[in-house]
Amino acid sequence: MLGVFDSGFGGLTVLKPIHQRLPTLSTMYLGDNARAPYGVRSQEEIFQFTLEGVRFLFEQGCPLVILACNTASAQALRRIQQDVLPLEYPDSRVLGVVRPAAEYLAKHATRVGLFAPPATVESAAYVHELYDLGPAIKVTQVACPGLTDLIEAGKQDSPATDTLVAGCVKQLLAKDEHIEEVLLACTHYP
Ligand code: DGL
Repeated sequence: MLGVFDSGFGGLTVLKPIHQRLPTLSTMYLGDNARAPYGVRSQEEIFQFTLEGVRFLFEQGCPLVILACNTASAQALRRIQQDVLPLEYPDSRVLGVVRPAAEYLAKHATRVGLFAPPATVESAAYVHELYDLGPAIKVTQVACPGLTDLIEAGKQDSPATDTLVAGCVKQLLAKDEHIEEVLLACTHYP
């Protein structure tokens, strides 16, 4: 069984294509709606909450857990892989979404824009991964505080969301008007 973890509802945008591509795979989804959003929390909190979610999914019988959440992938994945798995769960695996998304972008663009919650922007995880894959790639990040809360509250089609998104787009284009690809670096945004 494959475990999929997110800070809330957002990771369902990752679970759906997994089901479409691997229809016979059984999955278990855990969204931490009670404590979302993660994107405004400290690195330590994100690490502790993510680890709790991962432990829960391991205990349910998932030997592989995907952190669908960009924020958890950016702020907690490496520490879980390096410090927790070898000692406590040597036969289990945790994977994230930052590296695969960065690999896709590196193949398709040299000027990349990124919308994300504040903690993902602060981690600079995408900036580092993309630099690693192609030092010439220019990454322009825009933090979108409040957007996850609106989506978790079911207000994705509201004037407040429209205004917030328009402001983020304006900021991005003010920083670089020649962006080729934009990554919605949060599972809630699609
Ligand atoms: N869904 C998460 C992500 O992909 C984070 C949203 C949040 O909890 O702030 O980054």
